[in-house]
Amino acid sequence: MEIRKITIIGGNGKDGSKEAVERFDLKMGDIVSIVGPTGCGKTTLINDIELFANRNTPSGRQVLINDEAVPEDFSFDPSKHPIAMISQHTNFLSDLPVGEFLTIHATVRGAENIDKILQETLDFANKLTGEAIIKETAMTELSGGQTRSLLIADAVVIGNSPIILLDEIENAGIDRTKALELLKGYEKIFVFVTHDPCIALLSDFRIVLKNGAMQRLITTGQEEKSAATEMKKMDDIMLSFRSIIRAGDEISEDILNEKMSVLTC
Ligand SMILES: Nc1ncnc2c1ncn2[C@@H]1O[C@H](COP(=O)(O)OP(=O)(O)OP(=O)(O)O)[C@@H](O)[C@H]1O
Ligand SMILES: [Mg+2]
Repeated sequence: MEIRKITIIGGNGKDGSKEAVERFDLKMGDIVSIVGPTGCGKTTLINDIELFANRNTPSGRQVLINDEAVPEDFSFDPSKHPIAMISQHTNFLSDLPVGEFLTIHATVRGAENIDKILQETLDFANKLTGEAIIKETAMTELSGGQTRSLLIADAVVIGNSPIILLDEIENAGIDRTKALELLKGYEKIFVFVTHDPCIALLSDFRIVLKNGAMQRLITTGQEEKSAATEMKKMDDIMLSFRSIIRAGDEISEDILNEKMSVLTC
């Protein structure tokens, strides 16, 4: 089945009251953020999406595919599952080398040119990590940031899933604005659970959660888009400081002034 859009129909919050956002659509190419304080139900909302909830989860939400409800016994062919979830706590159980793991996944997914797709996946992942991932490394030996980067690349390039859910990737130490830039080149639905203002403002719209309920849908307007451009500059500065610290170098007043000068021009 080709997914053109999915619709989330509101249910109830933690206290049983009806959600203010009654429904919203996610269409191919949409980038959406889910925001709100710790414990407000962000992961619960993307779990509902992943499960194609049909009023059968604690939130009572329903997810429609192309305007139709998903039957309870509906299951996707695992090799074509339309949703990839990059969760908050991901660890690999397999200690296969990265190259072998990707090759197996690409084969299961029926990829034609395995070497090419494998290289594309690694190149994508390595644009997001500080330390490059090497094909021969065991999956279990990857760092947290490398693991998330590889999972994102794997989901986008090999998995080819039309819907990708990402739970708080900002904490994994990956280059998230770079990730968003790269993801914009793919015609998919990306849903980010995030506490990060850059990710939220680079999204097309965001859902604000409180006490388990969807309170507001905010479309990113022109003012916020301009704000995002300014924030990106600040973010780039922070990233460059991070690189200096990571490389074991020191930050002098000259370096500080030079970096900060970008903000005043
Ligand atoms: N609509 C809801 N109805 C009933 N229970 C809910 C609802 N939304 C969230 N909960 C419950 O509230 C708790 C916290 O939710 P969740 O883990 O989704 O929060 P979170 O926003 O992802 O938090 P964090 O920022 O810490 O990751 C969970 O036990 C979850 O089952
Ligand atoms: Mg969570």
